[in-house]
Amino acid sequence: MFQNIVITGASSGIGAALAKFYARPGVTLGLIGRDPARLGAVAAAAKAAGAVTVEGLVDLRDRAALTGFLSEFDAAHPIDLLIANAGVLDGRRADAVVEDADVARRVIEINLLGAVDTLHAVLPAMRQRRRGHIALVSSLAALSPLPDAPAYSASKAGLLSYGRAMRAAVAHENVRISVVCPGYVTSAMTDSHIGNHPHKISAEAAARLIDAGIARNKPVIGFPWQLYIPSLISPFVPEFITRIATKGIRFHVKPRD
Ligand SMILES: NC(=O)c1ccc[n+]([C@@H]2O[C@H](COP(=O)([O-])OP(=O)(O)OC[C@H]3O[C@@H](n4cnc5c(N)ncnc54)[C@H](OP(=O)(O)O)[C@@H]3O)[C@@H](O)[C@H]2O)c1
Repeated sequence: MFQNIVITGASSGIGAALAKFYARPGVTLGLIGRDPARLGAVAAAAKAAGAVTVEGLVDLRDRAALTGFLSEFDAAHPIDLLIANAGVLDGRRADAVVEDADVARRVIEINLLGAVDTLHAVLPAMRQRRRGHIALVSSLAALSPLPDAPAYSASKAGLLSYGRAMRAAVAHENVRISVVCPGYVTSAMTDSHIGNHPHKISAEAAARLIDAGIARNKPVIGFPWQLYIPSLISPFVPEFITRIATKGIRFHVKPRD
């Protein structure tokens, strides 16, 4: 059982559900997010379940603040599970054919560079201790890119590759790395995704599946199977079939405040 767990993006959706899932007596949770009220509410729920919490109001793009928080937390509570979950969805707006350049840059900065910085802030200490598990939250879009969110797809594909490569690099040091590839999960993120959400599951169900995959040290934790299996075979399917098959999941993004 993990004792010292850090979750980024803990103020909402999957991250909040993971925080509540792991909250119990004997567990210290490092919770990172940007919104003080929502992060505080998640921390209060975790405390009520018996966990100790340390909150970090950090924007992942502030590498010094991110590294500072994680180093300080790790020095006091050696991290045995890090879940790099924070991320944003952005892409094509309702009135556009493609996403714009600023959107693309911001999404890659947060989803890929932010997650890579998160990993590197903790990996050296885990390697030294020869112990620890890092879960990087990617997406099924990593396997099956979305025409309505190219940068999101690229950021998640980059994270999938990064995590799989790094897993192989540190496996002999007993540090474990898994990449999580969810399909549609109910959250503020899916509220901004205007389109169909087939086989959508709750954030609580996603948290349970992520924990089960981590417990089995799976390299890739993909779900639900109804979307994971088609995503795995999609690179081998002729393009015209993919275009027809994915017509029903075209979408646009409603900007969030
Ligand atoms: N929901 C889905 O269907 C789905 C599917 C596949 C993959 N995923 C992935 O799952 C992860 C969690 O998504 P979710 O659905 O739970 O979304 P969400 O409800 O929108 O939560 C996103 C979390 O990331 C945090 N975050 C965003 N940008 C940040 C930044 N620059 N610095 C620090 N924290 C930041 C948010 O913090 P604040 O709110 O405090 O700003 C929030 O806690 C993401 O990586 C997402 O790409 C989600």
